[in-house]
Amino acid sequence: MSDSQGFVLWFTGLSGSGKSTLSRMLEPELRKRGCKIEILDGDEVRENLSKGLGFSKEDRDTNIRRIGYVAKLLARNGVVAMTAAISPYAEIRRQVRSMSNKFVEVYAECSIEELTRRDVKGLYAKALSGEIKNFTGISDPYEAPEHAEITVNSETQSPEESVQVILDYLEQNGLVPVAAKTAKA
Ligand code: ADX
Repeated sequence: MSDSQGFVLWFTGLSGSGKSTLSRMLEPELRKRGCKIEILDGDEVRENLSKGLGFSKEDRDTNIRRIGYVAKLLARNGVVAMTAAISPYAEIRRQVRSMSNKFVEVYAECSIEELTRRDVKGLYAKALSGEIKNFTGISDPYEAPEHAEITVNSETQSPEESVQVILDYLEQNGLVPVAAKTAKA
């Protein structure tokens, strides 16, 4: 079997929009197809690689640059590097894109209304009350991508449907092998 190729699968989207969930769900699907995987998850990176950074534009850009750098190193060594950070600024996303020759941007779309309603981590309520300042989408900018290769939407799609949309794109563009079909009953 030939070695599978590396690339960067870059998720962007508001907090709670599904970036981490989708990357975790994709992991076994991609392993099945012979891919090596690493996930650079925003919350986890901020505990390690970016410990001490806050949420100013400067700190977010530093965080994203670090993630982009590690993702580039992984991808050029045959790993599918999935990143799941908000990455709210278009310019820095453009920069990390230019660092890798295979870069697929996935926009995890979801309205603020729906995210505020779900509020899984309880952060939107705190942002709305002013307890957390500079919260993306509430009191800090989010520049939605205009040319993402893939857009998924957690309001209109189930997580399984979104995963399928991403897999279809990757297969159709020759980035991952097509999964062997299993016979339906
Ligand atoms: S990024 O802007 O630098 O890409 P990152 O994805 O690493 O952000 O971190 C976002 C996570 O940090 C959110 O999911 C949330 O749990 C937490 N968080 C804490 N404060 C903020 C804030 N002010 N804005 C956005 N997310 C925040």
